[in-house]
Amino acid sequence: MLNAKNHIIPLTDYSISFIHSLEDIQAWLGSRNYTRIAVLVDENTRQHCWPLLEPFLDSPLLIEIPTGEAYKNLETCQYIWAQMLEGGLDRGSVLLNLGGGVVGDMGGFCAQTYMRGIDFVQIPTTLLAQVDASIGGKLGVDFQHYKNMVGLFADPEAVFIHLPFLETLPHRQLVSGYAEVVKHALIGDAGLWEELQSQPDPATVDWDKILPRAIMVKKRIVEADPLEKGLRQVLNFGHTVGHAIETWGLSQGLDVLHGEAVAAGMIAEIRLSHQHAGLPEGEMNRIVTFLEKGFPSMPIAPEVDLWSIMRKDKKNRGGQIRMALLEAVGRAKAIMVKPGAGLGE
Ligand SMILES: NC(=O)c1ccc[n+]([C@@H]2O[C@H](COP(=O)([O-])OP(=O)(O)OC[C@H]3O[C@@H](n4cnc5c(N)ncnc54)[C@H](O)[C@@H]3O)[C@@H](O)[C@H]2O)c1
Ligand SMILES: [Zn+2]
Repeated sequence: MLNAKNHIIPLTDYSISFIHSLEDIQAWLGSRNYTRIAVLVDENTRQHCWPLLEPFLDSPLLIEIPTGEAYKNLETCQYIWAQMLEGGLDRGSVLLNLGGGVVGDMGGFCAQTYMRGIDFVQIPTTLLAQVDASIGGKLGVDFQHYKNMVGLFADPEAVFIHLPFLETLPHRQLVSGYAEVVKHALIGDAGLWEELQSQPDPATVDWDKILPRAIMVKKRIVEADPLEKGLRQVLNFGHTVGHAIETWGLSQGLDVLHGEAVAAGMIAEIRLSHQHAGLPEGEMNRIVTFLEKGFPSMPIAPEVDLWSIMRKDKKNRGGQIRMALLEAVGRAKAIMVKPGAGLGE
């Protein structure tokens, strides 16, 4: 049985459990009778997270992949599938993804395609993966320089969130994940936003209290729109401009983390929310001040045309750009915006 003190968020087909001890994973596995257990790690989670989990598993197959988005591709999948095959994983086996969003997205994809699908479990070890990537069932890898181009939707058997994993996460990664926490508050929980305002530094946030609330926002949205037909677009708040910043950063050879680009994207989209969606000016100013204080600014020269990068996005129609904007704090909706000025000061 899982520890009764654990906070559990039930979803339609599985649960997200906040566990204080990794022994709870052992107990859960014991109730499932898997033929073989495999664990996917990257170089960092092997070093920092695997030693905490290892004592609770009985000689699992450990599969280690190199760290980073650059390895989130089909070549790495081939390596993972080969290891699964060599390690004797059959249809009754389970893959535990112990890592950030890269390990979770790719491990889930490999599990769901190996032998037409074996069970997988998400054990997210970054803030970004805990609040965002491990929820909602999107799995996949990058292909020919397009992010997440090949993949599928599938739910894990369980998600286990163990906050002590965050203790070894580099501060910059913590800040990057915090952008998605702030995003969830802004699009879906005005009360949470009020609490976050007094906490610009994620290193001092009480995650036991804050994380379940931020996850609830995503849970509500993905359950209402599991296959991204409509409502789920509000999760893209900050991401239309954010992706353009990531693309531009890549073209400049800059090292820009996803959450850093999203934070800068939110600043731009907050201003657009005031112009196009009725977000009051006072709210706009409060949010921009918070984001400018808490997140690194992007060195984007004024002549860089983010609009032209956004125009190339496949989701756009008739020259207009689809964006999720805020009507009020806690309420977002998708709007078609005409490209123009208004991204900067
Ligand atoms: N499926 C979804 O809905 C969804 C949503 C958002 C993002 N994503 C995907 O998630 C990925 C980004 O996730 P991420 O930011 O977690 O990246 P990541 O998996 O690359 O992890 C970031 C870095 O932290 C390291 N790390 C992880 N846990 C650690 C720990 N506890 N201690 C020390 N180091 C640790 C990793 O090795 C890596 O270097 C992207 O590929 C993105 O496409 C998916
Ligand atoms: Zn994101």
